[in-house]
Amino acid sequence: MTARKPMIAGNWKAHKNVVEALEIAGSIMLAVEDIWDVEVVLCPPFVALAPMRERLVESRVRLGAQNVHLEEGAYTGEIAPRMLVGLCDYVIVGHSERRHLFGETDDLVNAKVRAVLAHDLAPILCVGESLEQNESGETEAVVSAQVRAALQGVGGADLMGAGGVVAYEPVWAIGTGKPCHGSQANAVIGMIRRLLVDLCGEEVASRLRVLYGGSVNEANAVEFLEQPHIDGALVGGASLRGYDFTRIVRRANELRRRVE
Ligand code: PGA
Repeated sequence: MTARKPMIAGNWKAHKNVVEALEIAGSIMLAVEDIWDVEVVLCPPFVALAPMRERLVESRVRLGAQNVHLEEGAYTGEIAPRMLVGLCDYVIVGHSERRHLFGETDDLVNAKVRAVLAHDLAPILCVGESLEQNESGETEAVVSAQVRAALQGVGGADLMGAGGVVAYEPVWAIGTGKPCHGSQANAVIGMIRRLLVDLCGEEVASRLRVLYGGSVNEANAVEFLEQPHIDGALVGGASLRGYDFTRIVRRANELRRRVE
């Protein structure tokens, strides 16, 4: 664990209706009330953002959207960045499910990062290699190309000012129950950090958080959170269970206190 404030973010994907979302958000809110040293972020489906915002108004739990369109206009079914202003602080951009199931390219991911920053929202930029790329030793090349492309033309100061975050999520580890080894994730995230130094300078890079995501649960979280380069976790499946998610937050908090 690093000196940066760790973040534990839950990505609920297309799970939970508004009633269920409010129920779990309420229980997470109460369970993390005494936790000050970890930033807790929930990313529910769009429809739950406004009611959750209201429910969490007195809480330190922050909210994120899972995706966003580039702009307002004749785009039936889309949500533009301005519509998220006031509802959430973070926006997940470039999640591998968006890249693979919805055809999002590096160029589109870059445009979304810029659109998010232009509205003073913070991107949680997801990058990660496929199983095939991993097995053929291309992890570093693929991940660094994704980071470079996503941050093309993006000012480091803007990224830092907004509180932008990068999440390394190897595609083969997402939703499979087969996470990356902590040391492997740490090595890739160390590489991402060095790349951020190149792209944004030492000062900015030292403040940006880089998370690990992919089959993180309460049993394996410490293996990631105790790594020197890893600043927290982006949690999918386990974040749907309030108790499990809270346990991950507590573990991050314990490790953080040990560092201080
Ligand atoms: P998982 O999902 O924790 O269920 O593997 C992580 C993610 O998709 O962000």
